[in-house]
Amino acid sequence: MHRIHAYPAKFPAFITTKALVFAQQNGVETSCVADVFCGCGTVAFEAKRNNIHFWGCDINPVATMIAKAKSRKYQPWRLQKYYEAIIEAFLRSTFDNAYSSANERLKYWYDREHYEDLFRLKSAIEESTSPSSDYRLFFTCAFSNILKATSRWLTKSIKPQIDPCKKPTDVMVAFKDQCKFMMAANEESDVSGESTIDIITGNFLDPSVNRPKVDMIITSPPYVTSYEYADLHQLSSLWLGFAEDYRELRNGSIGSLHHVYNFERELKRLNNTGSSIVFRLLDRHKPKARSVAKYFLDMQQVAAVCHSMLNNGGMALFVIGNTEYKGVKIDNACHLAESLFSSGFADVYATKRRISKKILTPYRDKRGRFTTDDLGRKVYSEEFILIGRK
Ligand SMILES: C[S@@+](CC[C@H](N)C(=O)[O-])C[C@H]1O[C@@H](n2cnc3c(N)ncnc32)[C@H](O)[C@@H]1O
Repeated sequence: MHRIHAYPAKFPAFITTKALVFAQQNGVETSCVADVFCGCGTVAFEAKRNNIHFWGCDINPVATMIAKAKSRKYQPWRLQKYYEAIIEAFLRSTFDNAYSSANERLKYWYDREHYEDLFRLKSAIEESTSPSSDYRLFFTCAFSNILKATSRWLTKSIKPQIDPCKKPTDVMVAFKDQCKFMMAANEESDVSGESTIDIITGNFLDPSVNRPKVDMIITSPPYVTSYEYADLHQLSSLWLGFAEDYRELRNGSIGSLHHVYNFERELKRLNNTGSSIVFRLLDRHKPKARSVAKYFLDMQQVAAVCHSMLNNGGMALFVIGNTEYKGVKIDNACHLAESLFSSGFADVYATKRRISKKILTPYRDKRGRFTTDDLGRKVYSEEFILIGRK
């Protein structure tokens, strides 16, 4: 189930299990766990498997759609019935010149044939399933995951760009394969517990977000200026109606290059690690220094809000990577450790893990793809696990 939809920077599922065991060995009885940047629901799914209540939050509506779809259990015979109904409805449907009235941005990504087929498929899903049912969610998730393969999007790139040589995959071939994969994953899934899974779409730092008290937080914060989640998921956001203009979804996204704030005034709120990194960056590249400063300020607040969410004796675990820009080490882990101490966490532990998949391809080329060429941009080959106790 962890592979039903692509998502950048998701962390391996075993970290959740190890974290829960570590907490228990250290006297934390976890009846409710939160992932405050839940992404595509890795922790949500593992919480459900372990029959633990879960609360998750993510600002990206595509992420929460996947996370919800992933943490439910579906009846295989019902999935098969809906699947057949969708295929039948698709075959029955006719072209109605949807392309001419399509969103301009979608026209940029799709040729007429693929757009029209996707339009018919989306209508077939809507016709065959009821609006707020789990089954609508399951097939919407399948639909969302085929949107890049059926478009001109340059595959495996973290920068949205057209691949001029690409032959987009046929819509129904992609959809049938995707549904078969997801249906097999559902049959294998051992989720059966009665625990509640509550996933909200919103900015974790927004004071109006209703955050519960929990025993444990397991999360991986966004990276600084690496992924523009709103841009990367624009196809799903536009097709599924989350926004008319995907750029609206950048607002409030931590680690984004797009932000509005008073840099000079806010600078003095940075902690020691944050200000020393930002001052070194200021000499090299002012816009980058501004983005890193905004990220650090947000993460300081994240540490404080996480502390306030925990029950006394609770534990928070963060998976976080460092990076480098023009020779300046951006030590996110050290900055977060300092932020955890200043927020009242006692006993902050740190450990390092190697990311094996990236060892052979530790750089990104100009198009954002992994490469072994060291002229590219260095990416993370290790990351830190920080654990704080309240
Ligand atoms: C490293 S990813 C988390 C991946 C997740 N652990 C998984 O396995 O899928 C960081 C997430 O933080 C989310 N994010 C960024 N800013 C946010 C904010 N202000 N509030 C809530 N979520 C935010 C991004 O949308 C992204 O999904």
